[in-house]
Amino acid sequence: MLQAQSLSLTYADSAGALQALDRVSLQIGEREFVSLVGPSGCGKSSLLRTLAGPSLPTRGTILFDGEPLTQPSRQIGIVFQEPTLMPWRTVLENITLPLELTGLNHQAAIRRAEELIRLVGLEGFAEAHPPILSGGMEQRVAIARALAPRPKVLLLDEPFDALDILTREPMGEELLRIWSAEQTTVLMVTHSIGEAALLSDRTLVMSPRPGRITAEFVIDLPRPRALEMQYGNRFGELSRRIRQAIA
Ligand SMILES: Nc1ncnc2c1ncn2[C@@H]1O[C@H](COP(=O)(O)OP(=O)(O)O)[C@@H](O)[C@H]1O
Ligand SMILES: [Mg+2]
Repeated sequence: MLQAQSLSLTYADSAGALQALDRVSLQIGEREFVSLVGPSGCGKSSLLRTLAGPSLPTRGTILFDGEPLTQPSRQIGIVFQEPTLMPWRTVLENITLPLELTGLNHQAAIRRAEELIRLVGLEGFAEAHPPILSGGMEQRVAIARALAPRPKVLLLDEPFDALDILTREPMGEELLRIWSAEQTTVLMVTHSIGEAALLSDRTLVMSPRPGRITAEFVIDLPRPRALEMQYGNRFGELSRRIRQAIA
């Protein structure tokens, strides 16, 4: 579905050049849920932004559905760490925004947004404005907005980072439900090893900058996953191995 071949990225700034990514190769299959972990500053966000459409000065190739990806595609949705909603638009209007840009007719856009509002559990908030929402609710809107054009791939950059742990755990379970309902492919950056092990099919580990993929773990916990699994032996073993692989 999404493939990177030897991606390198170097930022130019006044102090010179800063290499963020060093020949990153990865492959994500259709409907797979892959997580990406690595130390802060290793290039995870840079990789995600590059995969969303290589506008950055990169070397290497990105293949999407077997075709070279040379510009951002509606088939690839991205959710940033900060929800970046438009405060003057209602929840519904934030979600229909990307659909307006695709030229979908107004009624169809509203129907799609209403469907997503139900999916992400925000019934009753369609007409609310973002400033009254909690952090978890704002992230749900951001996820709904990214899903609105029915992307084949959803890229998530530490989506639950701003949430406290008690909000964060159920959001992980919700994300699994959404992933399954929308039949999408997910690549999620997280700094929580537990979240990576609990949610994904496979976890990729990046080295300190310049980021390279240095390890890969198949998470063979059965699905459906449940929060209780994080107290089991297999989960503990996988988490320990992932932790050891992070420099
Ligand atoms: N737009 C940019 N211009 C210059 N340097 C950047 C830019 N974005 C990120 N960097 C640098 O690239 C490195 C990787 O950053 P980032 O991809 O945000 O890492 P991570 O998400 O893993 O914390 C860091 O050293 C960061 O300072
Ligand atoms: Mg980041």
